[in-house]
Order: sequence, then structure tokens, then C-alpha cells
Amino acid sequence: VTHIWNGAQMFLQWMKRLITFSYMTMCYLNGKILPLDEARVSVLDRGFMFGDGAYEVVRVYSGNLFLFQEHLNRLEKSLEGLDIKTVDIREVERVGKSLVAECNSKEATLYIQITRGSPTKRSHAYEENYEAKEKPTIFVYAMKFNDSNLSLRKNGCMIRSFPEVRWGRCDIKSINLLGNVFAAQFAKRNAVYETVFLGQDGLVTEGSHTNVFAVLNGRIRTMPKSPRILPGITRDKVLEIAEKKKLVVEEWGVTLDELLGASEVFLTGTSTEVMPVIQCDGKKIGRGEPGPITRELQSAYNKLFSL
Ligand SMILES: Cc1ncc(COP(=O)(O)O)c(C=O)c1O
Repeated sequence: VTHIWNGAQMFLQWMKRLITFSYMTMCYLNGKILPLDEARVSVLDRGFMFGDGAYEVVRVYSGNLFLFQEHLNRLEKSLEGLDIKTVDIREVERVGKSLVAECNSKEATLYIQITRGSPTKRSHAYEENYEAKEKPTIFVYAMKFNDSNLSLRKNGCMIRSFPEVRWGRCDIKSINLLGNVFAAQFAKRNAVYETVFLGQDGLVTEGSHTNVFAVLNGRIRTMPKSPRILPGITRDKVLEIAEKKKLVVEEWGVTLDELLGASEVFLTGTSTEVMPVIQCDGKKIGRGEPGPITRELQSAYNKLFSL
């Protein structure tokens, strides 16, 4: 009887583990798959010490990674910009796909972060041949995505401007995000969706996590690619759509006055998608409702992932 009782107890314990396991968020860290809350890196990791690393966020729609190759290409460029070598990007691709396949939600985001790794002592400068001894830290996980922007995408959002306080290489998707943190917190405090950075030359560069577009005299304007902005994957797709639709696009920056006087303004981003802006710094944009060009681009963009 004791044997049967012990056996039943063990069976129940295993079942409990199995059920917990299937609900747990799993992650990949340096070659191992483990539960997210069990993942650990050294306090000397250069990501923790210096923000010395790059990241990507990929949207998963209906279980499919959207524009994954484009994100991997940008990740490679960021790593090149940071002089982090020896990362096998095909391995990151394989791991990403397998975590998404195992994810308990079909609507998700895949987060990838790569740092220069964990040396044995803290020093600003890194060893040039450092990766021969220490490998970069590679961390990847997929997590359920709750889309909280549905009504904002339909009705439009409000934004605020904020001084550009970031470094001079915003084209690198670095994990050093303090300027973006300031801006996002400013948006939160002011109960608006996004904060856009205003350069010392008066140009609106981009948002804390989005690229910015304005429609002026029927022409679409957005900052050209340069170290002042992140080359957004959504930005590229929207420009591609605009070109196909024969809409006039000018890749020039807009001043804050131009933005406030634009007939339409919208934002683009991986989780933001195409988001109409109806108010900036308390001033109504256009008629204070999503404009026709924004709507046209938004519906064409939505078709790309809802086919
Ligand atoms: C500063 C910044 N600009 C623009 C974007 C939009 O880029 P993407 O369309 O690739 O998501 C992001 C995305 O997180 C960002 O952080």
C-alpha cells in the first residue's frame, strides 16, 4: 500500500511540474534553455556595467515571426557598430524560431539581447581579442503580447516633444536606453502615448520607441536615415508601401512648427504599427482625427501581417 501511495504522490508531482512547465516563459541564455525567472548573468556582464550591447524586438502574429530577417539584419549591423564579433546569427535565428514555436501564445514578441559578455574585471575599454576568451552573452525569449493600442490606432494618439538628450549613434539599437527611458517616462507622466525628440537644430528626430512621419502639402515627410535615428523596420515597410501607392515621400526632417501645422502626423514601430497622431504638445493636428493618408498606409501595413 505504501508503494502505491508513494508512486501516486510522485506521479502527481510530475504532472504538476509538467503543467507549470507548459505555462512558464522559457528563455535561451548562452546555449541553454531554461525558465525566464531562473536565468542569471554575472554582475560584471558589460551589459549590466556599461549598457554595452544591442537588442531587437520582433512581433509575432498568429505564431509567425513578422519581418524576422530584417530584424536579424539590423541586429548584425548593431553588433558591427559595437564591434561585437563571433555571434552566430543563424543560431540566434534558430533559437528565436524554436522559442516562438514553444511559446504559449500565438500573439507574442521575441526579445533578443546580445552583450559583449562578462569579463573578470570592470574596465571601460575592452580587450580587442577579448572574445577569444569571453563569449558575448546571448539572451532570447518569447512572451505573450497583449495589444493595448487597438483603440489608439483607430482613434489616434497624443504626443509631446522633449529635448534630444541621447548619444550620437541612435542608428545602433543599443541597450543603453536612458534618453529613451526619460522620454517614455515623460510621456507616461503627461498621459500621452509617445514623446518625440527635438534636436538642437529644431528638427523632430524620432520618438522614444517610434519613427515620426508628417504630411505637409500632401507630401509625406520623415527624417532621413542617419546616426540621429534608428532605421525602423516599420518605417522601411511604410516607405515601400507609399512608393507602391505613388505617394510623394520626402526624407527630410520636420521642425516642431511644421509638425504642429501638418495636416497629418503618424508614428511607426514594431509594436506600435502605424499609429495616427491627433495632438502634439496640446495642439490639435489637422482636424484632430486620423487623416486619409495615414489610414491608407495603416490599412496596407495591416494587410502584410493579417494575410
Ligand atoms: C528609438 C526608436 N526609434 C524607432 C523605432 C521603431 O523601429 P521598428 O519599426 O524597427 O520597431 C524603435 C523601436 O523600438 C525605437 O526604439
